[in-house]
Order: sequence, then structure tokens, then C-alpha cells
Amino acid sequence: MKIKGLFLLMSAMFVGTMTMAQSADIDQRVEELLQKMTVEEKIGQMHQVSGGYQFYNDIVGGNIGSILNVVDPIEINAVQRAAVEESRLGIPLLVSRDVIHGFRTIFPIPLGMAATFNPDIVERGARVAAIEATASGIRWTFSPMLDIARDPRWGRVAEGSGEDTYLDVQMGVAMVKGYQGGDYTDPTSMAACIKHFVGYGAAEGGRDYNTTMLSERALRNIYFPPFKACVDAGALTLMTSFNDVDGIPSTGNSWLLDDILRQEWGFDGMVVTDWNSSGEMIAHGYAEDLKHATELSIRAGVDMDMMSFGFIQHTKALLDEGKITMEQLDNAVRNILKLKFRLGLFDNPYVDEGLAARVAYAKEHLDAAKQCAAESIILLQNNGILPLKDAKRLLVTGPMAHAPYEQLGTWAFDGQEEHTVTPLMALREAYDVVYEPILTYSRDNDMSNIKAAKRAAKGVDAIVVCVGEEAILSGEAHSLSNLNLQGAQSALIAEMRATGKPVVVVVIAGRPLTIERDLASCDAMLYAFHPGTMGGEAIADIIKGSTVPSGKLPMTFIRDAGQAPFYYNHPVTGRPNNGTETLLDAIPIKAGQTSLGCTSYYLDSGYGPLLPFGYGLSYTTFAYSNIKLDKSEYTEGERIIVEYDLTNTGDYDATEVAQLYVRDLVGSVVRPVKELKGFERVTLKAGETRHCRFELSVADLAYWNRDMEYVVEPGSFELWVAGDSASGEALSFSVR
Ligand code: GLC
Repeated sequence: MKIKGLFLLMSAMFVGTMTMAQSADIDQRVEELLQKMTVEEKIGQMHQVSGGYQFYNDIVGGNIGSILNVVDPIEINAVQRAAVEESRLGIPLLVSRDVIHGFRTIFPIPLGMAATFNPDIVERGARVAAIEATASGIRWTFSPMLDIARDPRWGRVAEGSGEDTYLDVQMGVAMVKGYQGGDYTDPTSMAACIKHFVGYGAAEGGRDYNTTMLSERALRNIYFPPFKACVDAGALTLMTSFNDVDGIPSTGNSWLLDDILRQEWGFDGMVVTDWNSSGEMIAHGYAEDLKHATELSIRAGVDMDMMSFGFIQHTKALLDEGKITMEQLDNAVRNILKLKFRLGLFDNPYVDEGLAARVAYAKEHLDAAKQCAAESIILLQNNGILPLKDAKRLLVTGPMAHAPYEQLGTWAFDGQEEHTVTPLMALREAYDVVYEPILTYSRDNDMSNIKAAKRAAKGVDAIVVCVGEEAILSGEAHSLSNLNLQGAQSALIAEMRATGKPVVVVVIAGRPLTIERDLASCDAMLYAFHPGTMGGEAIADIIKGSTVPSGKLPMTFIRDAGQAPFYYNHPVTGRPNNGTETLLDAIPIKAGQTSLGCTSYYLDSGYGPLLPFGYGLSYTTFAYSNIKLDKSEYTEGERIIVEYDLTNTGDYDATEVAQLYVRDLVGSVVRPVKELKGFERVTLKAGETRHCRFELSVADLAYWNRDMEYVVEPGSFELWVAGDSASGEALSFSVR
């Protein structure tokens, strides 16, 4: 063991040394190149455009540093050749794309990947995406999106890892590692871009691009940690967000981009704006005009301008007028050139134009996508009818049963629907299927064919109703104020329920929808956040029982959109819910006004969510027992050991995501009722008991307190080990 440890240490040092040597070499090459560059050529590096051939002359003129949205390797090589062989200094382009959850092989949307609670498969998915995208010549992706999202009305919840900071950290780091790999000069290494810095998911009302009112403490305790963790994991780039944070648009916010990102965190990567987010500071009322927006962006610490055209148009004048300095300009260009050297683009700028076709949809890619999809699917309800082991003949209905394009979800530009396996296709492989879609798309209200489905229902053993959202109903700019199933989908479920046959509902959507009434109209419900290319096979395997569901909710499911924002790790308030609510229909006529003893709830929808963060059923059941701490009192620097027994008390071999939550009972500021501090996937045979443990350090309980110090405050704590955020018995301990 010692020899192995020594070997690992030496190899780490060797890699470290190599990295330091490489870093020194790159810094030297950057400086040498910078000295040769004219001001115009420096400014050209800061200019990113969407397109390729149409900017050929600008590229030859050294006026463009990066392109996005070109995926044809032939075009990419052509414009790269223009940069490398025809421009004066031969500086290669950074070729970028939104590769958000796969390139050709599409994985579940990131919210679905988060539902796996499996960083390994998420890292694998990012690696597959990088292999497929770099084969086209794309070496920079605008992913992972790290925006914490507590409001399902916001369409971009689809692109993130949900409401919890700890889960977001694990998933973000996994993606950064998967995209970038170990050696950035490897042609399959794709620079990650952590986005959108910062607080974009806190848009008021869940309305995209809306203002956010976030305190520094909220930023430091909730929104910063995923970005900091990904910076520490080596993320090579970062993207600013559209929104203002407490009145200052992120793209012009030097406290964010310099004080925090560079000075405090030591980020040495490259900062790019979001699409025209520099120019949008005019609309924000924060910049007079595009020239002023450019000045604010560069002075705040932005290196590259995505599509405002402000940098290319106004930077020279700003420099001549002394509104920005040559040092600021050089620092931005250094960050850009450093990235290009790190990726090995100067030594290896071109791609094998036949490679993309050879690697796309490779079997091992599809297998990984299927595993990820299977682990992302959450069993919300099952009265025992699933798995459909005895059924022979099924009626499959609903607009999402065979929607190969919609199933890929948002930001799946390069996925090809002809490769999608839909639930209908996969169920036909396992059952005798009658297919009556009835509704042709998720917003369809035309139930005129319902009789055909009811007729077909007579001759089947069970009904599978596939509903949800078309891909376009979530994602950027697509917020909803009503989260019920669109169109006549709920009516379709009710009609199928009325046939008296067992009904399995499969929801394929980009966000948590308000599905309480639909749950009441079915025997079982599976929830798949747009599960990608192999989603249909994953769903069918779960329905037939060859896969046992293990997904867990990465976001709270609410009863009504009016409850949003709702999240499990909320502060207690002075009137915590205690189950004494008087709901609307229980209030007598001419009731006397009273508020004493009342708690924080809604007269119409009560208090609690429909389903809690971390929730997800299995075909088996699990029992947690003998949960104990190694001590009852801890001091700084110590480790906290939590041991527990987990038993698979049912009839199926299955995987449970055991979750560890902690609560700080009293703080110098109010604290959340609980926070996720660990999780692990435990696979057990039917009847098996495993002795398991979580280990965390007292330092993991630190937070930014009233005095804005990052400390562990002594006092009493509670801890849970359970299968979701609403279960389990609290154990008490204290920190001295
Ligand atoms: C979009 C998105 C951002 C994306 C960029 C490039 O507006 O906000 O996430 O990476 O533009 O497509």
C-alpha cells in the first residue's frame, strides 16, 4: 500500500511539475506573442461572433478571436486555416458551442442528470459530449450551468442541477472534469465555461432575465460555492449573467469579476460575456450607449465580448481616451491567448474532418446515455402495478409517447431526432402495443379521437400515458406562470383512468410541473426530465422491470405555481408551519379575524410541497437503522463519522440514494431548516443489509455569518440520514 501511495504522490508531483513547467512555458509564449501584436490585433482577440465563413475576411484581418455556432468540421477547418495561415500572426480561433447535455448523443437535460445523484455518470456524459464535439473541431462549450434554481416557473431550471448548492457543486465539478479531461492539449479536451455568474436563477417571479435581489451573504452561502468549486477544479472559462444583482448587471460588476473571481478565488481563466450581455447594460439603464457598456465591461474584468460588437467598435477609442488602460487590454488578451495555448491550438489547430462521423452515436456513448437516463428517472407513485411484468398487451397514448425531437429537450441543437429511441419504440420491443396518441403535441386540446383510445383500452392489460412538455416550453426565455400539464393532457389521463385499466403515467418535461391532480388519476407515475436520445429504452426498461428506478428529485415539486419559489433548505421563519393551518374550505362564514398562532402557509394550498427535494421511490423498500454518530460533541478540525445500516427490505435488487442532512439550530443569522451535506448511491440485493457511513469535517458546517466571516459557529446541530429531505429522525450533536 505504501509503495502505491508513494507512486501516486510522485506521479501527482510529476504532473504538478509538468503543469508548472507547462504553465511557465505558456506564460512565456503569451508574452512573446503579446509583444508582437498591434492594438487592433489585441482587440480582435476579444471579439466573438456567431458564424464562420461570413466572417472570413475579418478573421484574416485578425479582428476575430472566437466563433460560435459552427459545427461542420470542414467549415471550422476552413476558417481556422484563414486564422492560422492567412492572418499576420496566425493566432488560432477558439471554436465554441452550447454543448449542454451532449453533442450528437444527447443525455438527459442537466436537471435530469442531477436527478441521478451520480457524479460519475454525469462526468462520463460530459466526456462523451467532449469526444463528439471536439471531433467536429469544437474546443469550448458553454457548460456547466451552475445557476441554483428554486422556482420552476423559470424555464432554465432545465439547464441546471436544481435547488441545492451541495448537489450543484458535485454535478458542476463532474462536468468540468468530464469536458476538460486531464490534459487540456488532448484534442478531445473541451474547455468548460461555468455560467451564468451570478444569481441568474434567482430572477424574481421566475421570469427569465428579471432582476435579482441577492445579499452578499446569500451569494456567498448559496450561489457562489458551485462556481468556487469549479474554479478550484480548473474550469478554464466563465460566463457573466444577463441579470443585475442588487442593481448592478453582472457583466459590469467588478466586485464579482475582479474582487471575488480574481482576487479572492484566484481564477486565472478567461471571462466571456453572455450573448450581448454587455450591450444589454444600455437597456438595464446602466450604460449610456455601447461605447460606455464596453468601457464598463472591460473595466469590470470581462475578457471576451460575445456578440455585442462593442469591443471591436469602441475599445480603440476608449484606450485613446484613457478610459481603459493598455494593462487592462493586455490582461484580457493574455487570458484569451493563455486559453488557446492551454488547449494546444497553436500546435494542433485542425481537426480530422472524417472523425465526427466516426465517433457520433458510438455504442459506448449510447450505453452511457441510456444508463444516465435510467438513473435520472424518478418513480413518484406506484400502487404496485409497476413493473408491468404480467402485462402482454398495452395501450400507449399521449403526445410524448413518440416525440423523438421533443424528448431531447432544450439546448440539444446537434442531437439528431432520427437516433432517438422513444417510449413507443422501446415498449413495442417488449409488449404487444396498441398506439393511439390522441394528442399530437403537449399543448394540443383536440380530444376528438378519444373514443379510439377508450375502445382500444378494452382489449389491453394496462395503459401507458406519456405526457409532458415539448422541448421549447422550457429553456431560455421560456418561463411559465401556470405549471399544470398543457393542453388536454390531464383530461386524457382522467379518461384513461375512467376505463378502469391500470394506468401508468410517464411525464417527460423540462421542469417540475404541478401534477397533483394527475397523480390522483393514475396508478403509477414516472418522471423523466427530457431524458435524451436513449430515454425511451430507459423508460421501457423501468416499466418492464429490467431496471429498478433510483432517481431522486433535484428540485421540490410544488402543488401550485403560486407556492413558488419553494425549496427545502429554507430558513425556519418566526412562524414555522406546525400543521395547524385552517384551509379555505374550513373557514366559517363571518369568521372573526385572528392571526395568533397562525403560521406561514396558504389558505388554499396549505404549506407543504407536493413532493420534497431528494424524493424518489423504488420497486423495493429501504430501511435505515442504527444511525449513530461517533461522538456527541466535536471541536474545530475534527471529523464527524455517521454510521448507519441500510437494508433492502423488498424483493428487487436496487439502488438507494442515501442522503445526509445537517441543521445548525442557532446562528448569528437565521439558518436553513436543513442542508444536504452528503449523498451516496448504495446498491443492495433484495434482503441485503449494508453497514454504511458518511464522513464530514466540522469545517463542512462553516457558513458566512453576520460579520461576513466564513466560520463554524459553536452550538447545537441536528443531523439526518434518510432517503429524502423530509424523512428520518434527527440526531443531535454539538460543536464546541
Ligand atoms: C444564450 C445563453 C447562454 C448561451 C449563449 C450562447 O443567450 O444565455 O447560456 O451559452 O447565449 O448561445
